Amino acid sequence: RPVRASMAQPRRPEYVPNRIDDPNYVRIFDTTLRDGEQSPGATMTSAEKLVVARQLARLGVDIIEAGFPASSPDDLDAVRSIAIEVGNTPVGEDGHVPVICGLSRCNKRDIDAAWEAVRHARRPRIHTFIATSEIHMQHKLRKTPEQVVGIAKEMVAYARSLGCPDVEFSPEDAGRSNREFLYHILEEVIKAGATTLNIPDTVGYTLPYEFGKLIADIKANTPGIENAIISTHCQNDLGLATANTLAGAHAGARQLEVTINGIGERAGNASLEEVVMAIKCRRELLGGLYTGINTQHITMSSKMVQEHSGLHVQPHKAIVGANAFAHESGIHQDGMLKYKGTYEIISPDDIGLTRANEFGIVLGKLSGRHAVRSKLVELGYEITDKEFEDFFKRYKEVAEKKKRVTDEDIEALLSDEIFQP
Ligand code: KIV
Repeated sequence: RPVRASMAQPRRPEYVPNRIDDPNYVRIFDTTLRDGEQSPGATMTSAEKLVVARQLARLGVDIIEAGFPASSPDDLDAVRSIAIEVGNTPVGEDGHVPVICGLSRCNKRDIDAAWEAVRHARRPRIHTFIATSEIHMQHKLRKTPEQVVGIAKEMVAYARSLGCPDVEFSPEDAGRSNREFLYHILEEVIKAGATTLNIPDTVGYTLPYEFGKLIADIKANTPGIENAIISTHCQNDLGLATANTLAGAHAGARQLEVTINGIGERAGNASLEEVVMAIKCRRELLGGLYTGINTQHITMSSKMVQEHSGLHVQPHKAIVGANAFAHESGIHQDGMLKYKGTYEIISPDDIGLTRANEFGIVLGKLSGRHAVRSKLVELGYEITDKEFEDFFKRYKEVAEKKKRVTDEDIEALLSDEIFQP
């Protein structure tokens, strides 16, 4: 059965802030608790954030961006609690301890708050950012490009001077920033001690080809880039966040910033489950890339984030939507009953999903004889071919009037003596 998602993957390499021993390993940086929490209406209590952080650790994410500590004393407390507990507890078969990261703008007050929150973790990280696009520097920051470079390198050096071994820098709105200016600011922050360079497509403006080229150009033209990890952070304003993230990975990014269910500012962020399953499923095409995610925890993580954020996924959401592994049309059901690989590229077991019936068949007006007959067998009814033809005619009449045909509908249709098991 050509379901590639169950391919065995190598073990994750040891964590060193700015070095990845295996060039095919891709770090997963989860920002559900920071960018995800910035979705309108998605705020979580500290207790809820801790519960979700424990689940992210079980899922196997490499880095948890736990919040924005300078934004409120409450968020600082939440990030600190996560750093103390989740940031010191080995999980999973490989006894992995995630990096705990806090966001800060490029100023000392934010950086001090972030450090106060994350320093308790075994592997703390400060993530600091400043805008680099003309439109943001002119209208939002009201600063010249050289002033922005000065602030960025001073603040990265400041974060390192506090004792933080791992500092990520993001040139906000990189997707709309001048290339030469990006190479310049990135070179300066590497010299100041940045270990990860995150390239945000802050407004979800780029197309996959364009974003991939941006990452490739940064890799080829930034002096000192070999001393840092390149990362992606793609917003979903044009519905391209997952595609852009994969294009970035293909072009050399080895950290991908994502959220569970794709929640995040405005139209959201790249979704962890889509990015991770695409890498797992199409690993060969992506040159052997792999992640350390235990995909069996995906379904539970998705449900937990829906519950705590109050943001529910649409039924047709890739990987975790209610319909993602359900089949209604007769042709598809017939294929599934003969060989599951006909209409499924991923096995539901791979994401920890147990479905109501083995083949994911949902009966409705489009269902064919094969699926309806196997439902009868599943319910314990054995009827002759002639009886089945009568039954199927009545089934179609009922199915025309309903969105779904349930087991109870089938039982009711079979209420004639002749069909009793
Ligand atoms: O979208 C963005 O630019 C961000 C940065 C802080 C990484 O969230």
